[in-house]
Amino acid sequence: MTGRVLVVGASHAGVQVAAALRDAGHEAPVTVVGAEPHLPYHRPPLSKAYLAGAATPDSMALRPATYYETAGIDLVRGERVTTIDRAAGVAVTGTGRELAFDRLALAPGARARRLTVPGAELPGVVYLRDLRDAEALRGRLGTTRSAVVVGGGFIGLEAAAVLAQLGVTVTVAEAGERLMARAVTPTLSDWFAGLHARHGVEVRTGTAVAAIDGAGAVESVTLDDGTTVAADLVVVGIGVEPRVELAEQLGLTVAGGIVVDARARTSDPEVVAVGDAVVLPHPLEPGASIRLESVQNATDQAVVAASTLLGGDREHTGVPWFWSDQFDVKLQMAGAPTSCDQLVPRGSVEAGSFTVLRYREGRLVGCECINAGADFVAVRRALAAGTTFAPEQASDAGVRLKTLL
Ligand code: APR
Repeated sequence: MTGRVLVVGASHAGVQVAAALRDAGHEAPVTVVGAEPHLPYHRPPLSKAYLAGAATPDSMALRPATYYETAGIDLVRGERVTTIDRAAGVAVTGTGRELAFDRLALAPGARARRLTVPGAELPGVVYLRDLRDAEALRGRLGTTRSAVVVGGGFIGLEAAAVLAQLGVTVTVAEAGERLMARAVTPTLSDWFAGLHARHGVEVRTGTAVAAIDGAGAVESVTLDDGTTVAADLVVVGIGVEPRVELAEQLGLTVAGGIVVDARARTSDPEVVAVGDAVVLPHPLEPGASIRLESVQNATDQAVVAASTLLGGDREHTGVPWFWSDQFDVKLQMAGAPTSCDQLVPRGSVEAGSFTVLRYREGRLVGCECINAGADFVAVRRALAAGTTFAPEQASDAGVRLKTLL
């Protein structure tokens, strides 16, 4: 008997575990507990439509409030679980509230990595991980004339694009040698640097922040080459750190994240874990493991975890995919970021619609598509089917990839 399920974490992964349990007919109590006070919401718009003023907390809700009532999911908001007694089957929140369970699903997510330079605590230094961060940032936009964005990853570049479009003078300081290096090939990094430059964003790679200066609030940022950039806002997007404290407390194996198998089981097979905090078997590379920060991974994994909780044997096989919106560009990526030894371009870089296909040992392992949705869909299908495209055919933009499937 699975019995009462407690899901710790109420974002994409946690909510989907609960929903998948109900979809599968699980009738016992399900509680989802989350530290944020809001109705669980979509995170991707925080650095895009919400920041631009085109989305609201209501429009971003994962599911309406009535869903939880109708589905009989007890949603505990604004409380963070601080201790878990596995043997007793009780989790305790920071307010002392006790939540009883028979089975446990961990979906604790990740927190924004903090900047630690002098001045990093000044008012005007903001992060962009949750709705509260995004509200605080939005509240400053009316009075912001110049901003330094620290980190040229997804969050930093999406925020830079919105700020630039609102008329803010933006400088991006990226410590690495190129933009979004964690996820995209150098071709794409260069192309995005050009895109941002065309929109007036000053992109500085190989540049770390040495200090943030100001009397009572941010006034300027000193970069490690000694230059100073005037700024009344600093947006920090330097990556995330998985929340692994509860897993450690439970004695679960943690190695760069909570380690799970293809059925979302932690080192304690009775406890499942899902989402950004988790290191899972690489869905496309046997023997390797990976932590994936994406909505798609969170929801796919949650369905697997629910199956496991109910005694099923479903395994995680989904092809990872990611996207980013910057200015009028849609970047879509499929396949996990992984080493590749051949890049096959197709389409027109000049016209702003192109794809870079990634190959390893002659096999397709992923793609990056700029305004090329049809290519993206075809590559996802190919990867899911375990097939490849001959590079010489795939490089011909006159040939639609789906016809090669
Ligand atoms: N100064 C400048 N840049 C830094 C520093 C630093 N001190 N430390 C790290 N960086 C850079 C990294 O080199 C990297 O390019 O910050 C960037 C962080 O990029 P990501 O890892 O993509 O993280 P982030 O942009 O913060 O996004 C966090 O939110 O939307 C999601 O998909 C996104 O899961 C990701 C998460």
